[in-house]
Amino acid sequence: MKAIQLTGYGKISENIRLSEIDKPSIKKDEVLVETFAAGVNPLDNKVASGKLKRLTKTPLPITMGHDVSGNVVAVGADVNEFKIGDEVYGYTHMQGAFAEFVAVKANLLSLKPKNTSFEEAASFPLVSLTAAQVLKRGNLKAGDKILIHAGSGGVGSLAIQLAKARGAFVYTTTSTQNVEWVKALGADRVIDYKTENYKTIVKDADMVLDTLGNQYTVDAFDVIKKGGKVISLVGPVDEETAKRMKLNTVANLFLSWKRRKVTAQIKRKSAYYSLLLMRGNKNQLKETAELVEAGSIKPKVDKVFPLQEALQALTYVAKGRTKGKVVIKMK
Ligand SMILES: NC(=O)c1ccc[n+]([C@@H]2O[C@H](COP(=O)([O-])OP(=O)(O)OC[C@H]3O[C@@H](n4cnc5c(N)ncnc54)[C@H](OP(=O)(O)O)[C@@H]3O)[C@@H](O)[C@H]2O)c1
Repeated sequence: MKAIQLTGYGKISENIRLSEIDKPSIKKDEVLVETFAAGVNPLDNKVASGKLKRLTKTPLPITMGHDVSGNVVAVGADVNEFKIGDEVYGYTHMQGAFAEFVAVKANLLSLKPKNTSFEEAASFPLVSLTAAQVLKRGNLKAGDKILIHAGSGGVGSLAIQLAKARGAFVYTTTSTQNVEWVKALGADRVIDYKTENYKTIVKDADMVLDTLGNQYTVDAFDVIKKGGKVISLVGPVDEETAKRMKLNTVANLFLSWKRRKVTAQIKRKSAYYSLLLMRGNKNQLKETAELVEAGSIKPKVDKVFPLQEALQALTYVAKGRTKGKVVIKMK
C-alpha cells in the first residue's frame, strides 16, 4: 500500500517520502481501516521536527498522520463494537493515518457522523477531543465566560462551537480577514488582534483556552477572575503533570524554572493552571459525532490535498494560518 513515511527528524522536506509498504496487520483489540481521508495537525510537524521523539519512542521510518476516516475492512478477535463495512472516524494515537490502510485500536474510533463527507470527518478527531477535554477539565458551564485564543485555528474553531453548545459566552481572537468567518461559528465577541487588544476587552473570564503559548500563557491570568482557570495546550508543564512524569531532580528544577512566571500568576490570581495533553477517547468522539449530526457543530475544512502532496499539506499547516483544518484525501 501507499504511505507517507518519515525517515528522519529535522527539515520535513528532506525527511518524508511516499513509500510502498506492507498493509498493517491487526491485534485483537484493533480494527483495520481503509483510509478515505486523513486530517493534518501541527502535531505532525512537531513529530517530524524530532521535538517529541522522547515521547513517541517509535523507531523510524514511521507512517505519519493521527486523524483518520474510512471503512472498516477487518476487525480483531476482541472487537465487538465494529463490523466490516462500518464508516468510522478517529484518532490513531501512534500515527499511521497518511496511508491507504491503518490499524487503529477500537477504543480510539467511533462511527462517522452520517451527515459529513469523509474529508470533513477526518478533519476533527484530534481537535474535537482536545477541545472537549479542555472544556471538561475546566468544567465550563452555561453562562461562564471563556476566552479561546486563535478561534480560526483547528482547535479554536471546534472549541468555540463546543463552548457555545454548553451555553457559555465566548470571546475569541483572530486576525482581520477571519473575523466574519469566526463570528459565523457562534463566538459572541470576536477580537481582531490586528486592531484590538484582548486584554482591555476580556475581564473576569472564568476560563482561558491558551492555544498560543509563551507570553499568551502568562497574560491569560490577567483576564480571568480570581480563582479562574487557564488551560494551555502549549504552555509550561504544570506541577501535577510534572509529578506524574516522575522526572529526575534536574529535569524537575528545569520545568519549575520554565513555569516560574506562570507560578507567580497562579499565586496572584489564586488560579487553576493546567497543561492539557489530549488523549484518544471513543465516548467523546461519539458525543461529538452526535453534535455534528444534530447540526450543533460544523466541521470546517480549509484545504484538501491528495496523498502525494502530503508535504505541501504539512508545509501549509506549518505556516500557522489555516482557517479550520487541512485534510489529505485518499479516495
Ligand atoms: N496539548 C495538546 O494535546 C494539543 C492538542 C491540539 C493542539 N495542540 C497545539 O495547539 C496549538 C494550536 O493548534 P491548532 O490545531 O488550533 O493550530 P492551527 O490550526 O495551526 O492554528 C492556526 C490558527 O492560529 C491563528 N493564530 C495565529 N497566531 C495568532 C494570534 N497571535 N492570535 C490569534 N490567533 C492566531 C491563525 O489565525 P490568523 O491567520 O487569523 O492569525 C490560524 O487560524 C498548536 O501548537 C498545536 O500543536 C496541542
